[in-house]
Amino acid sequence: MLVRLLYASRAGERLTSAGIDAILAHSRAYNPAHGITGVLCYSGELFMQMLEGGRDEVNRLYADIVRDPRHRDIVLLDYAEIAERRFAGWTMGHVNLAKANPSLLLKYSEHARLDPYAMSGRMSLALLEELVSTAAIVGRAEAVE
Ligand SMILES: Cc1cc2nc3c(=O)[nH]c(=O)nc-3n(C[C@H](O)[C@H](O)[C@H](O)COP(=O)(O)O)c2cc1C
Repeated sequence: MLVRLLYASRAGERLTSAGIDAILAHSRAYNPAHGITGVLCYSGELFMQMLEGGRDEVNRLYADIVRDPRHRDIVLLDYAEIAERRFAGWTMGHVNLAKANPSLLLKYSEHARLDPYAMSGRMSLALLEELVSTAAIVGRAEAVE
């Protein structure tokens, strides 16, 4: 059974771009072996991550992620059973939210800045979908072999 999980969090103060690369490298090593796909959005301050996969695997990974000291204030935005994956080709795609079009943020939020803490799960999902379909801001996504 497939599920998808969407959460947001605040990056720890000491997280550098090398730190993000380390998270992505770990994800791209771990996720394919556990049937996990998804996308990690990073704004320089906030994370939004979508995980997709088998229910047990997604739940187990999320439990590890929640305990990770590299971020805090983790909020579960959406959790649902799904019929198919959205990111089947991505071991863990990466979206740089710093490059997101402010009008896109404004479309779903009260202000032209990312604030998933003030958004409903449904709006967060819709925003994520649009961010990802804006190919220009998607980087370092890797296909599953
Ligand atoms: C924002 C964020 C996203 C993460 N995403 C993943 C992921 O998709 N896959 C993964 O294996 N680890 C991910 N991690 C790392 C896990 O939190 C954790 O470090 C990893 O599962 C190793 O746990 P362990 O040291 O207990 O073995 C992420 C960490 C953070 C801070």
